Amino acid sequence: MSYLKLPILNDTGFVIVDSYDQSADPREWDELIYVDWKSSGDTRFAPLASAYGDLECDGFWNHTPPKTDKDGVWVKENVAIAPILTERALEFNANIGRCRVIELQPNTYADAIYNLHRDDNNRLNPEGTGWIVRAFFNLTDDADSVMLLREDKDDPATETRVPLPAGAQVVIDTQRLYHAVWHPGDKPRYCLITSLESGPELDQWMQDRHPHTDANAPALEASFIAGAQAEAEAKRAARAAAIAAQGKDPRFGDGTMALAENDEYGQEVMSEA
Ligand SMILES: [Fe+2]
Repeated sequence: MSYLKLPILNDTGFVIVDSYDQSADPREWDELIYVDWKSSGDTRFAPLASAYGDLECDGFWNHTPPKTDKDGVWVKENVAIAPILTERALEFNANIGRCRVIELQPNTYADAIYNLHRDDNNRLNPEGTGWIVRAFFNLTDDADSVMLLREDKDDPATETRVPLPAGAQVVIDTQRLYHAVWHPGDKPRYCLITSLESGPELDQWMQDRHPHTDANAPALEASFIAGAQAEAEAKRAARAAAIAAQGKDPRFGDGTMALAENDEYGQEVMSEA
């Protein structure tokens, strides 16, 4: 038995679809209620759907009773503030798990490489059902920012960079691909992230929107990439050494989660380890 996965995501693990006309909408995300769900000072989250409808962002498996990242319950306080964002999540007609807006403060390319991680989307997900992936709707116009995607965290040659202008829509198997956002702007980036069950409904949503994988981001100088990679690896090594010095094993899980404390998911990732 295995999971139902969508062939459209087989080759690359992600797909970009037509952009949404974000300019026509009010900035609902400015009014949402955010919670401090982070381990560094760089992110906040505003949940639209949580495990049981509370204004919190914990993994669904950390609740009583625990559940997989499906059947999210709408958080009425934030749904009332953001009806358009809620409608956009409902547009998939798929089973939705976690659904929230992330606020990410500016960072560097080296920060983003350091933050690369995979999500734990399918914990407790019964085999034979749909594999859980995530949709990213960029809300702010961050045309110079990119979502880094790598098959191999340590190999820049496997990297794809997806530009994030307002309205960008990307579906990513974030349990397969290492990912993090490089956001060099001077204001926070906001993005709606929704956990979705793979199935005919999600497939149809993508097929209706000219799916492709041509990210078309500007090339980076090889020396710039190498420098940032080295900086990120040095930071990982320093953190591993610091944890080891405290007598803790830095390699719980696959090691990646434990070291990704500053990533776009903050503490969520720590709790995934
Ligand atoms: Fe993630």
